Amino acid sequence: LSLSLSLQTGFHGDDGSSFTVTWVGDGTGVSMVSGWWQYICLADYGKSFHDISHLINNTFIRKEFGLLAGPGNSQQVSYTPVLDNPGGVIFTSTDAGVSFKSVQLPFHLAQPITFHFLNPEYLVAISIDVMEADRRGELFLKRTEDLGKTFTTVAHSIFSFGYVGGFLFTSVMETLVRHTHTDFYSVLDGDEDMIFMHVDNPGEESYFGTVYTSDDRGILYSKSLERHLFGGEGKSDFTNVTSMRGVYLTNVLEEDGRIRTVISFNRGGEWKLLNKPQNVECGEDSRNDCNLHIHGEHSRYNGITPMLPLSDPTAVGLVIAHGSVGDSISSTRPDVYVSEDGGYKWRGSLRGPHHYSILDAGGLVVAVEAHPIDGQINTIKFSTDEGQCWKVYNFTEQPIFFAGLTSEPGTKTMNISVWGYRPEDDHQPMWVVVTIDFQSLLTRECGNQDYVQWLAHATEGGDLATEGCVLGYKEIFRRLRKLSVCRNGRDYVVSRQKSPCPCTREDYRCDYGYYRHENSSECMRQLDTTDHALKVCLNGEEEELRTSGYRKIPSDKCEGGFTPLSRKETVNRHCGNSSQPPTASPYSETPVSVTCAVKGVTYLGIM
Ligand SMILES: *[C@@H]1O[C@H](CO)[C@@H](O)[C@H](O)[C@H]1NC(C)=O
Ligand SMILES: *[C@@H]1O[C@H](CO)[C@@H](O)[C@H](O)[C@H]1NC(C)=O
Ligand SMILES: *[C@@H]1O[C@H](CO)[C@@H](O)[C@H](O)[C@H]1NC(C)=O
Ligand SMILES: *[C@@H]1O[C@H](CO)[C@@H](O)[C@H](O)[C@H]1NC(C)=O
Ligand SMILES: *[C@@H]1O[C@H](CO)[C@@H](O)[C@H](O)[C@H]1NC(C)=O
Repeated sequence: LSLSLSLQTGFHGDDGSSFTVTWVGDGTGVSMVSGWWQYICLADYGKSFHDISHLINNTFIRKEFGLLAGPGNSQQVSYTPVLDNPGGVIFTSTDAGVSFKSVQLPFHLAQPITFHFLNPEYLVAISIDVMEADRRGELFLKRTEDLGKTFTTVAHSIFSFGYVGGFLFTSVMETLVRHTHTDFYSVLDGDEDMIFMHVDNPGEESYFGTVYTSDDRGILYSKSLERHLFGGEGKSDFTNVTSMRGVYLTNVLEEDGRIRTVISFNRGGEWKLLNKPQNVECGEDSRNDCNLHIHGEHSRYNGITPMLPLSDPTAVGLVIAHGSVGDSISSTRPDVYVSEDGGYKWRGSLRGPHHYSILDAGGLVVAVEAHPIDGQINTIKFSTDEGQCWKVYNFTEQPIFFAGLTSEPGTKTMNISVWGYRPEDDHQPMWVVVTIDFQSLLTRECGNQDYVQWLAHATEGGDLATEGCVLGYKEIFRRLRKLSVCRNGRDYVVSRQKSPCPCTREDYRCDYGYYRHENSSECMRQLDTTDHALKVCLNGEEEELRTSGYRKIPSDKCEGGFTPLSRKETVNRHCGNSSQPPTASPYSETPVSVTCAVKGVTYLGIM
C-alpha cells in the first residue's frame, strides 16, 4: 500500500509540548500553529507556512486562553494575549490569519472567550473584575454587540455560564425547594427540548449527586440517575453520544467506592450497565460481574486517557472510546473500544491508549498510539470498516515525539495533521507538521450499492410495531456497508426516514405527585397528595395543574396507542415576584417523590 500524499513542514520552535495546531474553517486548508511566543500560519494544507508573530505585535499569548477558531466555515480566529492592561486585549482575524485587528476590553476575562454558537461575529466573555465581583457566585455576564465598545449586563450574581445546545445558561447558587442547604448545580447538556442537570449531594466533597431531566420549559425536573460521579474539579463524565438519538453515557460512584459506566438509550429514562464486548475476556475475579466501563473527562483530566469518547452525527451509530472490562472501571492502561450501533454492542478495537479521529463521515477512522514504548512514533493507523481491521501507514522516516492529531472541523475532511518534534543537539527542537491526505487511499466515490438500510435502536426479537422506537418514532438510516472501501465525499449528507410509533406508557413520565411502581410502567398516586392539583408559580402567574398522572416526555412524537386523560393547566392569579425563578408547591416532604422543582438555572434564551 502506498499513500502518495503526506506533506511535511518543519520549523524551529520553542521547546516542550507548548505547540498546538488549530484548523481554521472547513475546506480553507489553513491551520494555525501556536507556541509560547511563536505563531505560524500553515496555508494550503501545509504546503506553505509563514510566521505571523509580527501581525500580533509579537505579543505573548495566554496558553490557557490560546487560539480560538470560529465555528463552522467561518475564517475567524481570535487570540487572547497574556498582558491585559488596562482590561484585556484580544486579537481577531476574519480572513484566516492574513491580517489581525486588536480590541481593548474594558474588563478582565475570567475564562477564555467563546464564539457565539451561530454568529461568528459575536464573542461571549465573562468578566472577573475585582471592582464588581471577585468570587464565583458574584460574577456578571455581559453582552456586547459591537466587539467590545459597549456592554450591557445580561445577568448578575452568577456562578458559571455556558452554551448548551444553542442556549445560554447561567447557574446561580440557590436552594432546592424545601431544602435548607445550598446545593451545587451544573447543567450537563441540553437543547430546546430538555436539559440534564446535576445536583450535588449534600455534604462537602461527596463526589456524587443526582441527575435530573427537565421538561421542555425547564421548570419541572424528574430524577434520572442517582450517585452520579462529579469530581471536586467540577468535572463530569456525562457524554452525549451524538451519533445516535437519545443515547447518553456517564459514570456512577457505587456505595462501595467502585466507579461503573451506565448508558441510557432513551434520553435518561432508564440507565443500564454496558454489555461486555464479545471479543474480550474478563479476568478471573470479575467473571460473574463483567461489563464494559468507559473513561470520560475525569480520566482525561487525570492523564489516564488522552481523549474523550468520540461520536459525530454524520457517522451514524459510531462511538469510539477508551474503556476497560471488569466489575468497575480500571485506571491501568485502557484500551480502545468501538460501537457501531450507538452503544448497544461493543468491540475491543486497539490495545492501549490512542488519539483517534473520525474522517469522511465515518468512512474512515484514524488513530495514533498515545504512549509508545520509546516515546517516538512514525506510524498512523487507519480503518475503513469502523475499527474492525486496522492498517498502518508510516508517515515519516524519522520518528517524532508526538504532540497532537487534528483535522478540519467536522468529519467531512480526509486530511489529517499529525504534529510533533524532533530534538536537535545544538538547536531548538525541530517542529514537524505532517498532513496526510487519505483521498489517495479511498479513490472511489461510493455508489448506491455501497449503502444499506439500517434501523436505529433495533433490538433482536422485539415487537415489530415498536421495534426501534425511541421517544415516539423510529429512524431508518442509509449507512455505508462495512466492507465497502469508498469515500462518502464532501457532499455526503446523512439520509434517514422517520416514522411515528404508537404511544405506550413508556412515552410518558409520571406527573407531579405520582410515581412509577417498581417493575411496572403504571404511574401511581403518591399517598400524601390529597389534591389532584399542582400549583406552580411561574413569572408571577400561578398555574394550576390537573393531571391523571402521566406527562408526555418532552418532544416525544408518538401517535395513537395509550392515551391518558389529558392534563390541564389553568392560570389562576398573580403570585410571587415576577422576576423570581419559578417555584413549585405544594412539595412532597417524603423522599418517594420522583418529580420536584428546582430553581437555580435561568434560561436566558438565544442571545
Ligand atoms: C501593533 O502596534 C502598532 C504600533 O503600536 C499599532 O499601530 C498596531 O495597530 C498594532 N497591531 C495590532 C494588531 O494591534
Ligand atoms: C445531543 O447531541 C445531539 C446531536 O448533536 C443533539 O441534537 C442533541 O440536542 C444533544 N442533546 C442534548 C440534551 O444536548
Ligand atoms: C514502518 O515503521 C515500522 C516501525 O515503526 C517498521 O517496523 C516498518 O517496517 C515500517 N514499514 C515500512 C513499509 O517502512
Ligand atoms: C485534502 O487536501 C487537499 C490538498 O492537499 C485538498 O485538495 C483536498 O480538497 C482535501 N480533501 C478533503 C476531503 O478535504
Ligand atoms: C421487581 O422485579 C425484581 C426482579 O424481577 C424482583 O426481585 C422484585 O421483587 C420485584 N419488585 C416488586 C415490587 O415486585
